[in-house]
Amino acid sequence: MKKIRWKQKHLLGLKDLTANEIVTILDTAKSFVEISERAIKKVPTLRGKTVCNFFFEPSTRTRASFEIAEKRLSADSLNFAGSSSSLVKGESIKDAARNIEALKVDMIVIRHSSSGVPHQLSHYVNAGIINAGDGINEHPTQALLDMFTLREKKGDLKGLKVSFIGDILHSRVARSNIWGLTKLGADITICGPRTLIPRDVDKLGVRVTNNLMEAIEGADALNLLRIQFERQSEIFFPSIREYRQTFQVNKDVLKKAKKDVIIMHPGPINRDVELANDVADGKHSVILDQVTNGIAVRMAVLYLLSGTKQQLSLEESE
Ligand code: CP
Repeated sequence: MKKIRWKQKHLLGLKDLTANEIVTILDTAKSFVEISERAIKKVPTLRGKTVCNFFFEPSTRTRASFEIAEKRLSADSLNFAGSSSSLVKGESIKDAARNIEALKVDMIVIRHSSSGVPHQLSHYVNAGIINAGDGINEHPTQALLDMFTLREKKGDLKGLKVSFIGDILHSRVARSNIWGLTKLGADITICGPRTLIPRDVDKLGVRVTNNLMEAIEGADALNLLRIQFERQSEIFFPSIREYRQTFQVNKDVLKKAKKDVIIMHPGPINRDVELANDVADGKHSVILDQVTNGIAVRMAVLYLLSGTKQQLSLEESE
């Protein structure tokens, strides 16, 4: 055990974090789990801090999870949907963010359909920026909660076999997981139609296959990703029926998996496309545990970023 100082002001992506920083977030999140199990689910840790949730894209899990995390830490929250802000009158994101900062906001949680917007904002404002999903680039808190769930269910991530199956090309969740899991020594396979696998992804240290059985055999965890029709301007595979036949994880396919395999999904699920109902709701599924763990992970991220000026000193497990 050695002491480290948390120095990052923003959480823009797992590409930018070291393995030690990722472990620090996961270890810190573990200490926050217990707060959500109390009768009174609140601690004063972020009292006096203000967090703005700036969502320009639909969200159920991430937005609710951040709001709950902020409330459990006693932060004051401000919620903006892009559609109900002055952006619809032509205001730029830069102006909107600078005006929000002028209201003395400490952190901005932002989701946007364009890759790179959180990075841009980090140059415009002094508040800490937390990326809640930017285009097809990164979704760091989703990957962190996935990693937290893997640790909780399977222990050490080193050598753990994790397969991502589905639309990898448009998946910011897959990208963040690849950065994070490879840094912690996991063994990653990605699987999907050839047209939905990013070019050169193998250079990131992952195994690539278009054969579902190869992705399933020996895997400790399967993380299913939906086809992101909203990000596709062309046809990437012949039909949903064919996709289902080739890549759906269902009861029969699962017979080829390890007995203790876990099924993960970031949500929203396209039921009966990438994942059959009986598997989504079956005994291997940890999908709702992922959602619950998201609160502790986001509490940890908010806590660590808020403490930048205080130079928090944390135990680092290594
Ligand atoms: N996993 C995830 O980002 O879900 P939402 O789009 O509902 O936030």
